[in-house]
Amino acid sequence: MSTATEVREIPAPPIRQTGILIGDEFRPSVSGKTFATVNPATEEVICQVAEGDTEDINLAVHAARSAFETGPWSRMDARDRGRLLHKLADLTERHLDELAALESLDNGKPIRDAKAADLPLVIDCLRYYAGWADKIHGDTIPIRGDFFCYTRREPVGVCGQIIPWNFPLLMTAWKWGPALATGNTIVMKPAEQTPLTCLRLAELALEAGFPPGVINVVPGYGPTAGAALVAHPQVDKIAFTGEGSTAKIIMRNAAETLKRLTFELGGKSPNIVFADADLDAAVAGAEFGLFFNQGQCCCAGSRLFVEESIHDRFVELVVARASQRVIGNPLEEATQQGPQVDKAQFDKIMHYIERGSDQGAECRTGGRRHGQRGYFVQPTVFTGVTDNMDIARDEIFGPVMSILKFRDISEVIDRANQTPYGLAAAVWTRDVQKAHRIAASVRAGTVWVNCYDVFDAAAPFGGFKMSGMGRELGEAGLANYTELKTVTVRL
Ligand code: NAI
Ligand code: MG
Repeated sequence: MSTATEVREIPAPPIRQTGILIGDEFRPSVSGKTFATVNPATEEVICQVAEGDTEDINLAVHAARSAFETGPWSRMDARDRGRLLHKLADLTERHLDELAALESLDNGKPIRDAKAADLPLVIDCLRYYAGWADKIHGDTIPIRGDFFCYTRREPVGVCGQIIPWNFPLLMTAWKWGPALATGNTIVMKPAEQTPLTCLRLAELALEAGFPPGVINVVPGYGPTAGAALVAHPQVDKIAFTGEGSTAKIIMRNAAETLKRLTFELGGKSPNIVFADADLDAAVAGAEFGLFFNQGQCCCAGSRLFVEESIHDRFVELVVARASQRVIGNPLEEATQQGPQVDKAQFDKIMHYIERGSDQGAECRTGGRRHGQRGYFVQPTVFTGVTDNMDIARDEIFGPVMSILKFRDISEVIDRANQTPYGLAAAVWTRDVQKAHRIAASVRAGTVWVNCYDVFDAAAPFGGFKMSGMGRELGEAGLANYTELKTVTVRL
């Protein structure tokens, strides 16, 4: 493991907003309670943030409901909604360095990733959906008889949005873009680990000119603020990204009010490398597909299937790359891997590393904590992993690569599908037939061929099976935020 030049003091970005945004005002919680958000690289408290609960959610939903029903937003031309989204994208671009540093501070992700991946994707997503705002329309339908029948696409209403901590700002953009383009209003609950960038983006949205109440942000915990949002009868829809077990709770709690639900959940995505692949590209793709964002990606290529004949050579190359990753202070430009987001995630990962060894996998590099301070885990590679081991079945959400050997394509398709998840998959091969056969046979919402983690605001993303419901991004993402109305007129 290389270490980025020893902890140099880097000026922290300013922290401007730590309150609850209701209407156009950032305020303390009704209870007066706050919670700490922690820098995972140092384990030190960054600041206190207002802790929202039921009463704050009630106020936020009320603001969102009024904005939806009677505010200027409800009468605004679609094209003007698009213009506001463009303005927010421009402001985000202007504050790119500040937002990237804040994201890195609160989440622990390397600043160079925040600048090169998170922020550009945020800006792109806002611009992409800005373009959709005035292009959402219904159909005219030739029904039997003397009638004029047409459809309208109307906003769903007040949308509750609950997001996780792995891509705080990007998940905010994925949720806000389609919701705002289609004319909804929002009550968002960011993750308790990483509330700061969402609050700053909300401040920029007010500066862009979104009317009060269109975007409300209530930081707080899941079982309190999150649950209150899910239960609220004036909330029409919940969009959630996070763990499957949380989605089940949300589904149960939303049943009472029959809310619309969309989920983007976890995965155990197969990354399949055939012997005929460009080996260097596949090794680099395997490294990126697993270690990117400290392994905290719902689509991480966490089951790496390698064809037997190239297995040993592949392992040698991938272990070399993993052990050379630069781990250290995420605010340093040279850093490739920062800390895990919090102690709970760190402990979960260390537990899985122990299980891997106990169940007979071989740890080829890493396997330990890095340093004395901060939630750093060494990039870890296991070989000799079999399908029934915990590290091959469960979402670890950390820098732990599991390499499984396979013999032929039918076998690997069968094994790739032996999972309750179905978020993503990848295949590395120069054989176009193999590539398309994998693409068609693996039950997953996204398949990458000779690439990994290629995201674009225009390309739908979401899960088969227990990896989710509905799709985000692209035109498909709009469907989550509109109700279809049929109008029939006697002529
Ligand atoms: P989580 O699902 O508990 O948290 C995600 C969001 O849901 C947070 O904003 C949280 O406050 C909220 N939440 C929690 N309980 C809730 C409830 N009862 N009602 C409403 N909202 C609630 O995920 P957590 O605990 O942060 O991470 C645990 C594991 O989940 C990770 O180790 C990873 O395996 C997986 N995960 C998957 C993600 C993905 O992108 N698919 C993202 C984050 C975590
Ligand atoms: Mg949880």
